[in-house]
Amino acid sequence: MVLVFPPSKRLWFGSLVQATIEGMTITFITGANKGIGRETARRLIACGHTVLLGARDRERGEEAAAALGARFVPIDVTDDASVAAAAADVAEHEGRIDVLINNAGVQGPFGDPGDLTAADARAVLDVNVIGVVRTTTAFLPLLRRSDDPVIINVSSGMGSLAFTHDPGRSESHVVAPLYASSKAALTMLTTQYAKGLKGIRVNAADPGYTATDINGHSGSQTLTEGTDAIVALATEEPVAGTGRFIDRHGEIAWS
Ligand SMILES: NC(=O)c1ccc[n+]([C@@H]2O[C@H](COP(=O)([O-])OP(=O)(O)OC[C@H]3O[C@@H](n4cnc5c(N)ncnc54)[C@H](OP(=O)(O)O)[C@@H]3O)[C@@H](O)[C@H]2O)c1
Repeated sequence: MVLVFPPSKRLWFGSLVQATIEGMTITFITGANKGIGRETARRLIACGHTVLLGARDRERGEEAAAALGARFVPIDVTDDASVAAAAADVAEHEGRIDVLINNAGVQGPFGDPGDLTAADARAVLDVNVIGVVRTTTAFLPLLRRSDDPVIINVSSGMGSLAFTHDPGRSESHVVAPLYASSKAALTMLTTQYAKGLKGIRVNAADPGYTATDINGHSGSQTLTEGTDAIVALATEEPVAGTGRFIDRHGEIAWS
């Protein structure tokens, strides 16, 4: 059955939808069809957020969104036109976002660093770093319509000089030049954004070593543990501040 409201009722219904949207926290997550992004979507919906589930594959994105109660928005973070279309889609439907979670990421090749090619490097940086710049810039006008805009970059302990040099940490036993350098760049991008984007809280999360497709499910943490830091940053009070790097146990060193 299709409900057709007379113009006066349409106005009333339209304002009701507007008022409902105004009171909600609207969260956009990239790479949310699986893994940490999907679990973050599930948990934030349980916290009352309206989640816009970004994914580059329509079928997988629609399936995840339907299963969780999110709205699917197609986005490939390596593609200018796709990112612009995603921002336009959200501008048309929700009109703003409150939280942007730059989660999409790839690992790239491991193994002998001598075998790495420029194309390998470009592919990893295009998702993990340039994709974040592309997405953040496109979504800034939507974030600026929020009373309390928040950006969360999903970085990694693999991007920490301290962790990758600490023999007591698992990060020090892995050699992944492209992944680690991309996450180091993302962590620095976060501190620079935090300084330069006035009025927006910009923080980075290290999920910790979590069982997902990115590591062939070798991670020691559950998905829920791996999303604790992201969910904390997405739900904390504004007083918590900007320019921080946290894992599920609290603040960690930038270096
Ligand atoms: N798992 C860990 O131990 C761990 C630790 C530290 C940090 N992280 C970070 O956590 C984030 C999520 O990773 P995960 O562990 O959940 O891995 P995952 O299960 O492999 O998920 C990665 C997500 O990124 C998406 N993605 C890749 N390239 C994309 C692109 N060009 N445009 C849009 N989406 C794209 C993937 O989409 P498709 O399904 O279409 O490929 C997928 O949804 C990543 O940034 C990762 O670096 C993970």
